[in-house]
Amino acid sequence: EKGGYEHFMAKEIMEQPKAFRDTIFPRIQQGRVVLDDLQIGREELEGLDKLYIIACGSSYHVGVAAKYTLERLLRKPVEVTLASEFRYCEPIVTERTMALVISQSGETIDTLAAMREAKRLGARVLSIVNVVGSTIARESDDVLYTWAGPEIAVATTKAYSTQLALIYLIGLYFADLLGTISREEYGRIVDELLLIPTKLEQILENRKDIQYFASIYFNHPSVFFIGRNIDYAVGLEGSLKLKEISYIHSEAYAAGELKHGTISLIEPGTLVVALAGYSQLFEKTMSNVVEVKSRGADVLGLTVASKAEDMAKTTDHTIVIPDTHPMLLPSLEVVPMQLFAYYVALQRGCDIDKPRNLAKSVTVE
Ligand code: M6R
Repeated sequence: EKGGYEHFMAKEIMEQPKAFRDTIFPRIQQGRVVLDDLQIGREELEGLDKLYIIACGSSYHVGVAAKYTLERLLRKPVEVTLASEFRYCEPIVTERTMALVISQSGETIDTLAAMREAKRLGARVLSIVNVVGSTIARESDDVLYTWAGPEIAVATTKAYSTQLALIYLIGLYFADLLGTISREEYGRIVDELLLIPTKLEQILENRKDIQYFASIYFNHPSVFFIGRNIDYAVGLEGSLKLKEISYIHSEAYAAGELKHGTISLIEPGTLVVALAGYSQLFEKTMSNVVEVKSRGADVLGLTVASKAEDMAKTTDHTIVIPDTHPMLLPSLEVVPMQLFAYYVALQRGCDIDKPRNLAKSVTVE
């Protein structure tokens, strides 16, 4: 049942190229995104004044990445809120709000309750769900399924990846309806999207490199993930993966925010994982890498092939991923982060598929 792998998590990490393909390919026809299951039309979309993303845990992290992506594509405000906070913050939701609800299980109680509240306030609900026929899927106005297949490991991997994949499709589809994207840019993104599964395969083939980095760093007591923009969004997920299954304390920080407090925690022996795939901000993030290096941190960097040489001048080790359209970077960056957490947890002898105190689906508030 584990397909020859030691853990479900390893199997599910390896399934990501297929899961991504299954989620994306049937919905791209002749270079166009086709979302037949969506009922929303151009006029209603134009009338929306806000998108409100509601989710928990890793699904929330997809939401953080989605905010950058969707605001850029749609030029509409996108708010992202943890479902457990949503009901208690007097959310500004009207009939002109679209609630985008993200959940692998479709049963997370906080997310479900927040979704019901958004509906009550008049929002139209579009959900991204993996489990077919789950409560969130049934109660949404529209649902798009992530065809990831069953996910068993408590730590999500392929569900995260396919949720992101759907964000790209939604972004392209809506941007096209709204006229906020040029034909050329649309075509460029679609072309790159179709290449992601192959690039994921390349990253997975090189997993031994990540295993080697894990063997160096598995005993570090404290890890910081830093990055800017979508690199920061992936840092949040990398940090959660690590603490969830390896029990190492870690935090994700927007790289520019370090000097406002956290840098006081950097000392010799602290591991900093620096994500700098987003080329536009590469130099900025690298300036923060220099700051932590000069305070004695060990730095494991991650960037795209075209920046690898540059990065390696400053970092101790560098994870290299293929170049892609900047918007799609999180899909490639997250995989080495999942592998790193997995191999660190393996070295530490942790119960990877069932980490302590955690359940796959959180059905209590
Ligand atoms: O099923 P959901 O996507 O609604 O679950 C949300 C979180 O409970 C979930 O992502 C959790 O954070 C994972 N264990 C992270 O790996």
